[in-house]
Amino acid sequence: MKTQLLPSVHSYPAPVVLIGCGTVEEPNIITCSWFGTVCSEPPMVSVSIRKNRYSYKPVHISGEFTANLPRSTDIEVVKYCGTKSGRDVDKFEALGLTPIPCPPLKSAPMIAECQLVLACKVKHELELGTHQIFTAEVVAIHCGEERARKSQRPDPKPEEQIVYLDGKYWGLHRLEV
Ligand SMILES: Cc1cc2nc3c(=O)[nH]c(=O)nc-3n(C[C@H](O)[C@H](O)[C@H](O)COP(=O)(O)O)c2cc1C
Repeated sequence: MKTQLLPSVHSYPAPVVLIGCGTVEEPNIITCSWFGTVCSEPPMVSVSIRKNRYSYKPVHISGEFTANLPRSTDIEVVKYCGTKSGRDVDKFEALGLTPIPCPPLKSAPMIAECQLVLACKVKHELELGTHQIFTAEVVAIHCGEERARKSQRPDPKPEEQIVYLDGKYWGLHRLEV
């Protein structure tokens, strides 16, 4: 016997990424966890952003963003970029982060300090309700030495991933199966 509850989304956990948008001169970062893998060939991800976020317009207009993967030690950056708005503060400056070009993207900057960055070009935008969903092709991966491997696939370093679940931050551990 189960209890029927009101509908809401519970497909846990949600990965935490730092979305870079705007330009190198006027950059912004928004923390997003409504982020996911949606296709392997071409490689595509999705991110859902509310229209009232300062970051919405730059992504909508430029059709570009970067998905910078934070490490568990970056939790203060994640919290800051998830509570402050680019309308009021330059998050890069406030956090001492460096916006640099993310080729082949034309405008969206990546965070130099992040070890794994996906360069994303928007393919579709759909109005869902509270959020706009962008699907985007990953057109390049920028990987620091820490994450580089001989294969074209970066080291995922699962022990460094941050996931969001029920309003709290969590890490991952491997199941020995
Ligand atoms: C862990 C976490 C996950 C978040 N995920 C999203 C998300 O997926 N989409 C979204 O629109 N806002 C999300 N937010 C809220 C934005 O990050 C927050 O409103 C931010 O201040 C917006 O910045 P901006 O106005 O500079 O765009 C999240 C916040 C946190 C802390």
